[in-house]
Amino acid sequence: MGERVSMNYDIKDIGLEEKGMLRIRWAENQMPVLGLIRERFRRDKPLEGMVIGACLHVTTETAALANTLKEGGASVFLCASNPLSTQDNVAAALVSEYEIPVFAKRGEDSQTYYSHIQSVIASNPHITMDDGADLVTELHKSKKNIEKIIGGTEETTTGVVRLRSMAREGVLRYPIIAVNDASTKHFFDNRYGTGQSTLDGIIRATNLLIAGRTFVVCGYGWCGRGIAMRAKGFGANVVICEVDSLHALEAVMDGYSVMKISEAAKVGDIFITATGDINVLRREHFALMKDGVILANSGHFNVEISLPDLDSLAISKKEIRENVEEYKLQNGKRLYLLGEGRLVNLACAEGHPASVMDMSFANQALCVEHLARHAKELSPQVYGVPKDIDEQVARLKLASMGITIDKLTDEQAKYITSWKEGT
Ligand code: NAI
Repeated sequence: MGERVSMNYDIKDIGLEEKGMLRIRWAENQMPVLGLIRERFRRDKPLEGMVIGACLHVTTETAALANTLKEGGASVFLCASNPLSTQDNVAAALVSEYEIPVFAKRGEDSQTYYSHIQSVIASNPHITMDDGADLVTELHKSKKNIEKIIGGTEETTTGVVRLRSMAREGVLRYPIIAVNDASTKHFFDNRYGTGQSTLDGIIRATNLLIAGRTFVVCGYGWCGRGIAMRAKGFGANVVICEVDSLHALEAVMDGYSVMKISEAAKVGDIFITATGDINVLRREHFALMKDGVILANSGHFNVEISLPDLDSLAISKKEIRENVEEYKLQNGKRLYLLGEGRLVNLACAEGHPASVMDMSFANQALCVEHLARHAKELSPQVYGVPKDIDEQVARLKLASMGITIDKLTDEQAKYITSWKEGT
C-alpha cells in the first residue's frame, strides 16, 4: 500500500505520475462530451456524498471518467477489470493528482487482482461500475457491504450477459444499468473502437504486414464486424467464423469468406476471437494450423483461446518479443500467442481511442447520475440506458464535431407517424 498521499492505494510506482498526467490530458482533449458533463457536474454536484466503487480498465479515458465523477461530488475508488490492461503511469497520476485511490498494477497475479477488488468493496460503495461484472460477482459471493448499494453500471457485453443470468436466477441484489446496450456505446465502442485498437494491438506486438494475409475473425458481432472491417482495410483476406446464421449471412453479404473454424484453421495466418464464448480456438484447431500463425483475443476473458490445450500440446513455450509467446507444438509447428490471450487491444496497445470512449463514458457518467436520482424506483434487474441519455450523447457528439443535421418539417413529422397518409 502506498503512503505518499494520505489514503490507501496500491499501484506500481507513484513516481510515474507526470507521464500519466500528460497522457490523461491528451485523452481529455479528445473527449468533449465527457468534458461538458464534467463542467456541469462541477457546478451542480449531482453525486454529492456518493461513494463509487469502480472496476474498469485503468486507462487514460477511465481517468477522465473518474475525475468527472469526483467533480460531481463523489468519492471514487478504482481497481482494474483486467490484470494486463492497467497503465501504471495513469494509476500514479490518479492517486497523486486527483487523489483517487487506485488498486491496480499491470501484470498483477490473480490473487492480487481479486484482493484489489476486495479493497474497492471495502470502500463501502453506494454505486458500482463494472467492466465484465467481476466486482458485482465478488460482492454477491462475499455479500460484504452489499446492503448500502443502490445500483450499478456495466460496460461490456460479457458483463451484461453475466448480470442478466444473475437477474434471471433471482440472485441479483440491486439494479444495474447495461451501458453496453446504449446505441451510442456498442455501435461505436465495440465496432470502431475494438476494430481499430485490435489491429493496433496486433501490429504493435508483432510489426507484421497485414496486407495479403488471411485474417480469421471468430465472432461477427459488434466487435467482430469492426475488426473485420479494419483488417480488410489493411488489405487482408478476411475469413469469418460464426455460430449464428444471421450474423454469418451478414458477413457473406459484407463480402467476407465464411467457413467453419476447422476449415479456417488450415488457411489462416492471423486468428482473432471476439465472441464472449469459451474454447473457441482449441486443440483440434491448433493441430490443423500452419507454422507461424498468430493467435489473439479481443473478447472480454482469456478463455476464448484454450490456454490449457495450447500448454498441453506444446513441447516448449517462450517469450520471444514483448507480448508474444511462442508455443512449439509436438508436430514441430510454432504458434504465437499475443498478450497471454487477454484483450489484445488493451494488453498490447492502449485500448480504444479516447474519442470513442468519450461516448461510452458520457453514458457511464449520465447513468451514474440517473442512479443517484432514481435508484429507489428501480428493482434488482438489468435495465437499458434511458433513451434520453443515449440521444443526448449522440447530439452532443455530433455538435462537438461541428456537424448539424436536418430536422423533420411539421408535414414530415405528421407523415411518418400517421397510418392515414398513403401515396
Ligand atoms: P456480440 O454478442 O455482438 O457478438 C458475439 C458474436 O460471437 C455473436 O455473433 C455470436 O454468434 C458469436 N459467437 C459466439 N460463440 C461463438 C463461437 N463459439 N464461435 C464463433 N462465433 C461465436 O458481442 P460483442 O459486443 O461483439 O462482444 C464480444 C466480446 O468482446 C465480449 O466478450 C465483449 O465483452 C468483448 N468486448 C471487448 C472489447 C475490447 O475492448 N476488446 C470492447 C467491447 C466488447
